[in-house]
Amino acid sequence: MTTSESKLAQTLASLNIHSAREVQSLFAEIRSRFDAEITAVKNEATFKSFRDTWLGRKSGVLSLVTDHWLKPATPELKRAVGAALNELRKHVDSQMSERLSSLEAAAGTEASAKRGIDLSLPGVARPIGTRHLLRQVMQEIEDIFFSIGFSVAEGPEIETPYYNFEALNIPEYHPVRDDMDTFYLELPKGTAEQLLLRTHTSPVQIRTMEKRQPPVRVIAPGKVYRRDNPDATHSFMFHQIEGLAVDADITFCDFTGTIDYFIKKFFGENVKSRFRPSYFPFTEPSVEFDASCIFCGGSGAAKSGGTCGKCKGSGWIELFGAGMVDPAIYGFVNYDPKKVTGFAFGIGIDRLAMLKYGIDDIQIFFQNDVRFLRQFP
Ligand code: FA5
Repeated sequence: MTTSESKLAQTLASLNIHSAREVQSLFAEIRSRFDAEITAVKNEATFKSFRDTWLGRKSGVLSLVTDHWLKPATPELKRAVGAALNELRKHVDSQMSERLSSLEAAAGTEASAKRGIDLSLPGVARPIGTRHLLRQVMQEIEDIFFSIGFSVAEGPEIETPYYNFEALNIPEYHPVRDDMDTFYLELPKGTAEQLLLRTHTSPVQIRTMEKRQPPVRVIAPGKVYRRDNPDATHSFMFHQIEGLAVDADITFCDFTGTIDYFIKKFFGENVKSRFRPSYFPFTEPSVEFDASCIFCGGSGAAKSGGTCGKCKGSGWIELFGAGMVDPAIYGFVNYDPKKVTGFAFGIGIDRLAMLKYGIDDIQIFFQNDVRFLRQFP
């Protein structure tokens, strides 16, 4: 038993201490014992038993001081003992938490060193990705239509034949279904309705008109699927933006004016647009829009001589299909065909992006080759 330990087992009276000065020197003795012991604590395991020695609830030094010195102290000494004990407790607490932090930090550094980690090295910078070129082009097209009052509508990629075909005036056995051969889902036997991956964004026209009354001005961007064999201009999954405007007095001039505005904003003010008769079961009349060739400026001649390879000398590049909404469609959505007119269009985003950025193979969009992706930050 050390001297201070034996003193801790006795009262002040039995230690023959009767003055405040003697109390102070007694506490100074305890404090130097504490200071000596704490410097000897070298790791977290010994710290634990050291803490118990000093702060243990029953036989820790501070509890013994309270029980044997403070409580039985005479009224004259109590004040001095209380003050000295408070002082000692503050010292013990602050020294202990300081010591514990430094032991923990040392343990962390040691563990990192063992694992070969140098905490002073700068962290690994993870580059933030960019939006895919198709996403950027989609946004660009959306922004142009937002600027003239269109908003975005959405529809599911898994569709029913009704929305993908029938409500668009394409009954079963209509030959146009052959052009949009698609992927049907394998459903459990006995399922009443078939489901398919939509072949175009046009079903969103129907879904939108079912929900809203005219005036309607929406664009519907998204993925579409067809059983087309992959080549430089065909993919089995690609992207379209549908457009639909229906109101009481929409004319063919509104229609061509809107498309011309879009083509000029997208390709440049000098690019001209034209339309040719075409056929879609859900528009009447139907047209194909062309833009003057952005590679040869519409001349049809290559800069290096000979004919332009992109427009094959015609000076025009085919862009996308469109038309005035066929009045028969209004019957499917409970609009009165005598009161409303409108136009619709379906832009192939991938092919538009290829034209604008001079990409000659659609497949490269989907190969995730960073050498390609990095060119469009
Ligand atoms: C349609 O899909 C019609 N729904 C468009 C439409 C909407 C017409 C509204 C009238 C009114 P089409 O089958 O032509 O039409 O396809 C539209 C565009 O999708 C094409 O111009 C082309 O750019 C693109 N496209 C078609 N098939 C593929 C494919 N396999 N890979 C990449 N792009 C394709």
